Amino acid sequence: MRKPEPLVEILSTGRYLPDQIVTNDDLSKRMDTSDEWIHSRTGIRQRHIAPDGVNTADLGAGAARRAMEKAGIDPGEVDVIVVCTSTPDRWMPATACDVQALLGCSNAFAFDVMAACSGFMYGLSVAEGYLASGRAEIVLVIAAEKMSSILNWNDRSTCVLFGDGAGAALLRRANGSGRGILSAHLRSDGNLAHLLCRPAGGAIEPISKRVLEEARHLVHMEGREVFKNAVRSMAEACDQALQQAGMTADDIDLLVPHQANVRIIEATAKYAGVPMEKVFVNVDRYGNMSSASVPVALDEALEQKRIGPGSHVLTVAFGAGLTWGAMVLRW
Ligand code: UT7
Repeated sequence: MRKPEPLVEILSTGRYLPDQIVTNDDLSKRMDTSDEWIHSRTGIRQRHIAPDGVNTADLGAGAARRAMEKAGIDPGEVDVIVVCTSTPDRWMPATACDVQALLGCSNAFAFDVMAACSGFMYGLSVAEGYLASGRAEIVLVIAAEKMSSILNWNDRSTCVLFGDGAGAALLRRANGSGRGILSAHLRSDGNLAHLLCRPAGGAIEPISKRVLEEARHLVHMEGREVFKNAVRSMAEACDQALQQAGMTADDIDLLVPHQANVRIIEATAKYAGVPMEKVFVNVDRYGNMSSASVPVALDEALEQKRIGPGSHVLTVAFGAGLTWGAMVLRW
């Protein structure tokens, strides 16, 4: 099979994590849980939590500034800002508009993409479309999540799993460099939306005293069902993305999976045929940062030189929607 020629490349990446770290032991002082339970079930040891006043847009702008500094791109050069988030600062307008104002990207148009934990991958594919069609020269894709603001802190089965943070990437046309997005396989299944959602607080059932009392405006998850679907869908997405790129798992230098649970990561790597030495894991330090997990992991892997020029990277994610997807990237 002829290998695809990438249309779009990633110029630079950046990340931003709020300073405050909350360990499993800290949580066990506030609720009936333990480091032993959380770590053995998920691999998580700690997460970063943004304080009041540090919002999703602030996290996203922090990550974007790092990416722009690294690439030497001025705010005025950005044509499109895509913010992937499940934790918008307000329901209207898009958080991307707040990010635009913070960054001073006065020539850009800005909008949000909502695909939960798969958001960054959906965002990259949106950027690919604008760039490949010639409608933009520079696109900023940001994944920013203040998960702590939508968690039910009385539900120990979900609140211990997530953390706050943001990652960003600047993209431009590949222009024959050979670097960039080699393949993308994205899927959704709205029939399973109920497995992971915020049941109320939107148009179906606006916020009311009852919604607040029952905490139905916050994250609800059927953990075991999500777990099963995550492993199955991510394995299938890896296969499809590799096939589209004309590659096998042996061609992959690093697998950068969504960081929800180390057991899900291990099972996905096993199905995909990638040994754990070639898998990037940071869920122990950050927990599940939803859409921000993949770009933060990519940025750290680049910094640690686990990704270098010519590296083939397989990324894969899964989340509420349900949504999932995988991409093969060449650096
Ligand atoms: O980005 C995608 C988003 N979500 C995910 O990826 C999450 C996918 N699901 C998972 O990762 C796992 O299902 C969990 C980590 C959420 C749960 O792990 P599990 O091995 O499926 O646990 P379980 O459901 O078998 O364990 C439940 C037990 C219950 O006790 P009983 O009824 O068996 O006595 C819970 O009450 O564990 C108890 N439990 C806890 N105990 C201590 C639930 N949460 C906690 C907690 N600390 N934080």
